[in-house]
Amino acid sequence: MPGSVELERHDGVALLRLTNPPVNGLSFAMRAALGDRIMEVLADDGVAAIVVAGAGRMFCGGADIREFDAPPPPGAASLPAVLAEMEASRKPVVAAIHGVAAGGGLEVALACHVRLAVPGTRLGLPEVTLGIVPGAGGTQRLPRLIGVEPALDVIVGGRLLAAERALALGIVDQVVDGDLLDGAIARARQLAADGGPLRRASLLEERVAEARARPGIFAAFRKQMARRARGFDAPYACVESVENAVSLPFAEGMAAERRIFERLRASDQSRAQRHAFFAEREATKIPDVPRATPALPVERAAIVGCGTMGGGIAMTFANAGIPVTVVDVSEEALDKGLAVVAQNYAATVAKGRLSQAAMDERLARIARSVRYEDVRDADIVVEAVFERMELKQEVFRRLDAACKPDAVLATNTSTLDVDEIAATTSRPESVIGTHFFSPANVMRLMENVRGRRSSPRTIATVMQLAKRLGKVGVLVGVCDGFVGNRLLAPYLREAEFLLEEGAPPQQVDRVLFEFGLPMGPFQMSDLAGNDVSWFIRQRQAATRPAHLRYSPVADRICERGRFGQKTGAGWYRYEPGSRTPVPDPLVEELIAGAAAEAGIARRAVGDDEIVPRCLYPLVNEGAKVLDEGIALRASDIDIVWMHGYGFPRYRGGPMFWADLVGLRTIYDALSRLHDEHGERLEPAPLLKRLAEQGKEFGDVGS
Ligand code: 3HC
Ligand code: NAI
Repeated sequence: MPGSVELERHDGVALLRLTNPPVNGLSFAMRAALGDRIMEVLADDGVAAIVVAGAGRMFCGGADIREFDAPPPPGAASLPAVLAEMEASRKPVVAAIHGVAAGGGLEVALACHVRLAVPGTRLGLPEVTLGIVPGAGGTQRLPRLIGVEPALDVIVGGRLLAAERALALGIVDQVVDGDLLDGAIARARQLAADGGPLRRASLLEERVAEARARPGIFAAFRKQMARRARGFDAPYACVESVENAVSLPFAEGMAAERRIFERLRASDQSRAQRHAFFAEREATKIPDVPRATPALPVERAAIVGCGTMGGGIAMTFANAGIPVTVVDVSEEALDKGLAVVAQNYAATVAKGRLSQAAMDERLARIARSVRYEDVRDADIVVEAVFERMELKQEVFRRLDAACKPDAVLATNTSTLDVDEIAATTSRPESVIGTHFFSPANVMRLMENVRGRRSSPRTIATVMQLAKRLGKVGVLVGVCDGFVGNRLLAPYLREAEFLLEEGAPPQQVDRVLFEFGLPMGPFQMSDLAGNDVSWFIRQRQAATRPAHLRYSPVADRICERGRFGQKTGAGWYRYEPGSRTPVPDPLVEELIAGAAAEAGIARRAVGDDEIVPRCLYPLVNEGAKVLDEGIALRASDIDIVWMHGYGFPRYRGGPMFWADLVGLRTIYDALSRLHDEHGERLEPAPLLKRLAEQGKEFGDVGS
């Protein structure tokens, strides 16, 4: 098992360096080594003070998450016990922090007597994002050090903070501009020479005593986080553990923290959230496009089409510091599109989440033009015009003529064939899909669609770009709907059939919301606009197999101009200015009418039927996508659905969730639905194979 702690002596100061690349993860071996080194230097009369630092890129990224499912080796050192020894040391211990101090890494630092960090360091306790609580004293030392409310923000928020912010909160004692190690060694030596009392976070009682006098703070915090934390166990467990810091003595609070940590570590939610963490990193690995593949550095970008998506994509580039030129057909179109962009920024400023100066800077990065020649300096152009093949082909012909030879030409199409678009250019190898999700400046998914001819350089460019834009990039292949919308189709279809069979839209929506989706299918359609899929259905009408069941309800809703929230009505009614869906008897009538025409006997649909009926077919489609090689791995499908459609992270995405449910269970249920409803619900061959072999989607390709 990797991980060591290197010892260097600097004239009476022992420098301990955590060494376990790439993030100095606290593996079992590393914890044991830290414990041994601490004992060694405490016993060494030649050592007056200790500095703890990290080798390589960072201080420490926390416990080694890969070991979470492994049983600890016999006699394994407990990190809290090692840290207790270290904190109790009469020799001063100084943490010298650079790069990142996250999770257990920050907990190591919190058990030191002084913390120094260099500018650019990021610090925090992201355990909550992995479905656990900090397990080495974070929930007990941090509130004592910085106060209960700030500690709740750090622990429940889970985000890494800049060094300057950590300084302001009191997490670090100093941000050092000069040489970190020299500074830390000098500080440690000085502390030893002074011989004064050392500051031990576990002994600081003032902040927790003060909080004890305000018993309402935890209830208030739980209330405030309720919306964001819906369905997640870990945020509530974090609050519980911080509450213990206030109500229990330190040692008891530590014991309780350990119990809570162990409970969560073994939970399905934590397994799912850890799966999500690794899935995001896995998605960056493309077997035939190795890391070293040269990518085009993107210094300038251009967007064609300044509508809903183009505007949001332009903001995404501007937010990442990349200058971008937006092209549309007319000054009016640009005025309209860019006014929306300005409004969006202004709303963020009004909420206090962006400064006016930052807004001005970002807006200044967005140039406008009605001339294609103005994209010639762009390293990448993202096309976001109307969803029509002839139009897109025309735009790409013009881009081919206007763009510099090595530019990447990307399309934001959500349904069209990237290869057909590429074929109209003289450089299909430079063409690729970059499918952003709406609102593009908010949603983190970038579904990158490789065409048959997309070159490794083009792929590497957009995958690296995704990271720079703060997005999660997933590479998929060309097929109808790519990964995200292809899985959406059977989900929506079965939801609509359930209406005809007797479930009202609000029942289906409620059950899927309770499952953890941000909203059910009908509320989602009303938000996205029912007209978009209506146009697609009209286009597909001629080729739709006549023998398959088809629900006309969505078409009838659109025929009445009910496009959703934007028209005040869709699957629901909306009062003017309100986004609250109100069930509408007219929709119920349309549904009942369609059911009668199709000869469907309506019945009370049980809540328990809804998740299997809507999500098993989605998983089944995922199995086909995987089998066809459209997705490289099941976890890529999970990423698409977590970041593009809000599939709850605590369920790990649809494929991981399916593995948890058990593929045999899903296969059997689908087989029954297949018998009842016919071919559209036939279990996919891959699902059948895995179910019969007792395997999981996670086993595919591994
Ligand atoms: N354990 C195991 N592997 C880890 C890891 C960890 N804590 N953190 C990162 N890695 C791995 C990644 O999987 C990746 O592996 P790969 O190259 O094989 O894909 C590699 O290290 C590099 O990671 P990133 O690409 O994420 O590197 P960055 O430089 O972009 O980011 C980071 C560094 C900010 C440390 C980021 O990796 C991160 O957020 N890591 C997780 C931090 C975390 O959640 N720590 C808490 C752990 S739980 C804990 O500490 C419990 C304690 O309270 C007892
Ligand atoms: P939109 O209708 O809001 O905007 C399209 C813009 O393109 C308009 O401003 C129009 O003036 C401009 N345009 C049309 N022809 C042009 C040309 N020849 N040159 C330059 N500009 C031109 O459309 P929206 O919703 O932004 O969609 C754009 C693309 O993004 C489509 O391919 C769509 O399928 C895709 N998409 C849409 C999503 C959504 O939720 N709206 C989500 C993901 C992808």
